[in-house]
Amino acid sequence: MLSYSELSYAQSSGAGAELFKSKCGICHTIGGGRLVGPDLSGAPERRTEDWLLRFIRSSQAMIKSGDAVAVGLFKEFNETIMPDPMLSDDEIKSVIQHIKDQSGGASAAAAYVSVLENAGEKDIALGRHLFEGRQAFANGGPSCIACHNGLADTYFNEKSYAKDLAASFATLGEAGTRAILENPPFPVMAQAFEGKSLTPDEVRALLAFLKTPGGSPTMRKASGFMVYGVLGAAALIIVFSGLWYSRKDRSVNHSIYKRQIKSVN
Ligand code: HEC
Ligand code: HEC
Repeated sequence: MLSYSELSYAQSSGAGAELFKSKCGICHTIGGGRLVGPDLSGAPERRTEDWLLRFIRSSQAMIKSGDAVAVGLFKEFNETIMPDPMLSDDEIKSVIQHIKDQSGGASAAAAYVSVLENAGEKDIALGRHLFEGRQAFANGGPSCIACHNGLADTYFNEKSYAKDLAASFATLGEAGTRAILENPPFPVMAQAFEGKSLTPDEVRALLAFLKTPGGSPTMRKASGFMVYGVLGAAALIIVFSGLWYSRKDRSVNHSIYKRQIKSVN
C-alpha cells in the first residue's frame, strides 16, 4: 500500500508528465539534448524553485523585467519566444516536479536521426517553391513567405510579420526546426496550420531549403520577386499620389475662372 504522501506524489508527478508532454515536449527534452529550447535536465538544480515558477509562468514578462539569467537565455536561444503555457501555479509545480524526477534519470532519449541524409538539389528547389508559395501544400496550409518574408531591415526597414529565418536553422538545428514544422508551438503559426499539417516530404524539403546557405530566404532578398512586387506597388503609389496632388492643387474650375477674369478685364 502506498502511504498518503507517496500517493499524492505519484499523482502530481503523473499529471506533471502529461502536462510536460502536451505543453513543453515539442521544445524541450529532459536529458535528450537541446531541441528548440534547452535540455531541462538539471534545471531544478541550476535555478531556484521561485525562478522556475516565474519563468515558466511568463518567460517574456521575466525577460522584460530585466532578469539577467532570463535575458541571457533568451539571447543564447536566438530570441525564440517561449509562449506562456496558461497553466495554474499548481500545474506548473507538478511539471517542475516531473522535471526533477526525470533529471539525471537513465532514460536517455534515442539519438535523433536526420531525414536529410540523401537530400539534394531537387529537395532544396522543392523546399524553396513551397516556402514561396509557388507550389501549394498538399493539406492547404499557407505559404511560409506570407509571414516570414525575409524583408526585415532591407529596403523599407519594415519588419516582416514573423521572424527572419536565415539564422534559425543554424540555431535550432534540424531536430528543433523539424519539431516546429511538424507541430508549430507558436500560437499564430499553430493556428495557421491547424488541421493543415505538412506532409513528411514537405517537411523534408523545407528543412533542406532552410539548411542551405544561400537558399535561405534572406539570401535572395535583393533579387526576390517579392521585392520587385513591393517596389512596383510603391512606384504606383507615388505615381497616383502625384496625379492626385495636381488635381487637388487647383480646383477643376480654375482655368475657367481664370478665363472669365481675363475677359472681364
Ligand atoms: C516554443 C517552444 C517552447 C515551449 C513550448 C516551451 N519552452 Fe521552455 N524554453 C524555450 C526556449 C527557446 C527557452 C530559452 C529561453 C528563451 O528563449 O526564452 C526556454 C527556456 C526554458 C527554461 C529555462 C531553462 C534553464 O536552463 O534555466 C525552462 C525551465 C523552461 N523553458 C521550461 C518550460 C516548460 C516547463 C514548458 C512547458 C510548460 C516550456 N518550457 C515550454 C522554448 C519553449
Ligand atoms: C501565419 C503566420 C506564419 C506562417 C504562415 C508560418 N509561420 Fe513560422 N512562425 C510564425 C511566428 C509568429 C513564429 C514565432 C517567432 C516569431 O515571432 O517570429 C514563427 C516561428 C517559426 C520558426 C522558429 C524561428 C526561430 O528562430 O525561433 C520557424 C523555423 C518557422 N516559423 C518556420 C516556418 C515555415 C517553414 C513555414 C512554412 C511552412 C512557416 N513558418 C509558416 C508565423 C508563421
